[in-house]
Amino acid sequence: MANTIVVASKNAGKIREIRQLLADFPLQVLSLDDLSDPPELTEPYPSFAQNAAEKAVTTARATGYVALADDSGLVVPALDGAPGTRSSRVAATDGERIKWLLDAMDQVPADKRNAYFVCIMVLADITGQILGTWRGRVDGTITTQPQGEAGFGYDPVFLYPPDSQTFAEMTPERKNQVSHRGQALKAFVQDLPDILSSITTNINSAPPAGE
Ligand code: IMP
Repeated sequence: MANTIVVASKNAGKIREIRQLLADFPLQVLSLDDLSDPPELTEPYPSFAQNAAEKAVTTARATGYVALADDSGLVVPALDGAPGTRSSRVAATDGERIKWLLDAMDQVPADKRNAYFVCIMVLADITGQILGTWRGRVDGTITTQPQGEAGFGYDPVFLYPPDSQTFAEMTPERKNQVSHRGQALKAFVQDLPDILSSITTNINSAPPAGE
């Protein structure tokens, strides 16, 4: 139990990527879908960092596991930063969200189609204390048509110029090398040796239930 963390998410795409990136570490990675009574999570704030902290703290307190939350999204300057922290909520499905984005950018010329993904990761212990915050950002452009089948979310319309491919055309390994989530997790992993001892301490020093 000491080396278990729960990822504060039910997003299968995110969880898959986080598990891939943490595969080599002595860490059992659970998601909210592995728990019988997962907490309801909200993203009430206008910043990724606040939402990530909220999700990590709520999950750690409710589950008794150290919790890692990822708040991430797509920022499009030509749309005044939209969809931003509302990336998962502008429509009901990935396909509809992509349609929303392409429709919103219908009149945006090629030289103004720059965009970036942001990821903020926050780890919280079971008392609600934040153990660390890590960030990643990747810049690209928004295509006019979906391209590729891999990944999730807005990947089919996010072109990564150095590879001339969308995230949905890349292998998962390549996306993890360059993505916002990959960057944040690499920074997290660098701190992991220290954090693992902190996780052990936190869980073992927790009072038994009811005290
Ligand atoms: P949230 O962090 O749960 O609010 O959701 C973030 C949303 O941003 C996801 O549901 C996706 O729509 C989008 N998103 C975040 N990261 C990625 C990514 O790596 N690829 C594609 N879309 C992403």
